Amino acid sequence: MDWLDNQVVLVTGGGSGLGRSLVERFIDEGAQVGVLELNEEKAAAIAARWGDRVCSVVGDATSYADNERAVQATVAAFGKLDTLVGNAGLWDFGTPLEQLKPEQISPAFDEIFGLNVKGYLLGARAALAELRETRGSIIFTVSNAGFWPGGGGPLYTASKHAVVGLVKQLAYELCPEVRVNGVAPGGMPSDLRGPRALDLQETAFDSLPVDELVQRLSPLEAPIHAEDYTGHYVLLASRANGSTATGSVHNCDGGVGVAGRKLTEKVRAELFGRGA
Ligand SMILES: NC(=O)c1ccc[n+]([C@@H]2O[C@H](COP(=O)([O-])OP(=O)(O)OC[C@H]3O[C@@H](n4cnc5c(N)ncnc54)[C@H](O)[C@@H]3O)[C@@H](O)[C@H]2O)c1
Repeated sequence: MDWLDNQVVLVTGGGSGLGRSLVERFIDEGAQVGVLELNEEKAAAIAARWGDRVCSVVGDATSYADNERAVQATVAAFGKLDTLVGNAGLWDFGTPLEQLKPEQISPAFDEIFGLNVKGYLLGARAALAELRETRGSIIFTVSNAGFWPGGGGPLYTASKHAVVGLVKQLAYELCPEVRVNGVAPGGMPSDLRGPRALDLQETAFDSLPVDELVQRLSPLEAPIHAEDYTGHYVLLASRANGSTATGSVHNCDGGVGVAGRKLTEKVRAELFGRGA
């Protein structure tokens, strides 16, 4: 028996990167999966790859009507909804405050918060009645930037901190029927884009040397890929294994927050008068 046998999951932004790996893993664990995806080609590729195990809906996660359409299509296809995964997001490519032109701040804020925070809220509202019906769960993709500085600029970091707040508030409001949790991954190569207001809509995260970056930032000192994060979602979605978790955020970012600043042997010798 697999961990998600007979479960129905809806993933926003399931067309590439982490979302696509989640679709694959959920299906491997026995689930049927709805996808809400903005990019038509990515949505079509998901449908072509997994056939009737997926229900792929083209739409915008920042629109309530599109979230509602995705919930309805998923329930029409598979009969119910057990878990909503809010996942579609935008990054700010670490743009620091000083490099944000004053006139860019409002539109860039609206784009990033509009998807990363409002998109999750709209998805949760659209799925709420179905999730109550199944006593299901919500999982939001957070980020290391939901806990630590330096994983983005102020716009992205603030948006992901806001997602941690959403997890706690919704967990508080929706218990006992619906569990609400988050997963906070760290870096991984993906097609993650930036806001139009910063002219980053065509720049993909994996145009950067992401493997090297992650290897240097994580004390685990290894590259991490989207599929490496999917087990945390499976655990939280699983009725058999995740039933006691609500209001939690699984921090699985490769340990960036505990990387700290290591003392070199030279500094240690100077400070303590002895070697490491
Ligand atoms: N890549 C990383 O290093 C990293 C690290 C930590 C957290 N995250 C988070 O992981 C999540 C997934 O990002 P990813 O890295 O897999 O990027 P990605 O761009 O590969 O995947 C996001 C998907 O969402 C889709 N999308 C974008 N806007 C949408 C909208 N308005 N409506 C519906 N779909 C939309 C995209 O087309 C894409 O398929 C995001 O929330 C991101 O903040 C990513």
